[in-house]
Amino acid sequence: MPAVLNYEPLVLSPRSEAPRLTPIQEEIIALKRERNAVILAHNYQIEAIQQVADYVGDSLGLSYQAQSAQADVILFCGVHFMAETAKIVNPGRTVLLPDLEAGCSLSDSCPADRLAAYKAANPNVYVVAYINCSAGVKALSDVICTSGNAVKMVNQIPADREILFVPDQNLGQWVSQKTGRQMRLWPGSCYAHVMFTVQAVEKVRAQFPGAPVVAHPECVQAVRDIADEVCSTELMVKFAKETPANEIIVVTESGMLHRLRKEVPHKTFIAGPTDTCACNDCRFMKMNTIEKVRDAFKTMSPQIDVPEPIRSAALIPIQRMLDWSKR
Ligand code: 13P
Ligand code: SF4
Repeated sequence: MPAVLNYEPLVLSPRSEAPRLTPIQEEIIALKRERNAVILAHNYQIEAIQQVADYVGDSLGLSYQAQSAQADVILFCGVHFMAETAKIVNPGRTVLLPDLEAGCSLSDSCPADRLAAYKAANPNVYVVAYINCSAGVKALSDVICTSGNAVKMVNQIPADREILFVPDQNLGQWVSQKTGRQMRLWPGSCYAHVMFTVQAVEKVRAQFPGAPVVAHPECVQAVRDIADEVCSTELMVKFAKETPANEIIVVTESGMLHRLRKEVPHKTFIAGPTDTCACNDCRFMKMNTIEKVRDAFKTMSPQIDVPEPIRSAALIPIQRMLDWSKR
């Protein structure tokens, strides 16, 4: 067991005022107007990006925002599969991603050709795909889910269908426990969320007795089991507002703390730790920098495009998710 754990916790305390915008942030806001653009940002983006975004949220909220966006340009501050989803649901817009290399280990763990081979060998499986997957995988799936609606999606699948859940085995296992539904799990995982450990979380909990632990379902079961609440990043905001506690330990990517501090400014948030670090960044999410956001507007690149046959096939299970979410 790597027993490092010799760091101080990362704590975001209440702040009376948000920081003033920097010249580069002002420049981005002017460019956004010039390009008739909207900036959609995931909760894991750096604070400077969250501050210039029109909407900050989880994968589900971002999908709705992308679909209803009226602006000519969607500048998507997140990772590749999220920008791709925006293009699938709203193909008439130009979709920009500040860094094309911003991928996702979870998405990479399920290549479309391997899923196609699995389906050929198991033609009757009902494929539930976590939104953290490529357009090619979505095109092969029956319904998409996010961490915010996965339980609701699985509960609506006919009981006589055998489910294959891709690509996150940890989220899939959690959904299976919540729904009582047996599922085949694709052996993928998020490299960042599996780094949280019980011993690291318990160490920080000992320093903040009484602080509830809220964890993302991509964490391993041992960590989920010691959490007071397991939920999507958006539901973490709701949890933080509703819990009577004033200090909360947040076991997910560290960008989430900025969103929480903005929405619940009077509370203190402590980053979920790993064995070697007081907090945990997703290296893909953090490839987007404020300079790259500005440059994306200036050059109108990199743009996301999805070949039409894949886009229209991928739209079907995404639309099913958006419709089922409203039920
Ligand atoms: P959320 O939809 O909960 O924001 O999760 C997205 C993600 O990439 C988690 O790692
Ligand atoms: Fe993918 Fe994990 Fe990063 Fe989320 S945190 S984008 S699942 S690698």
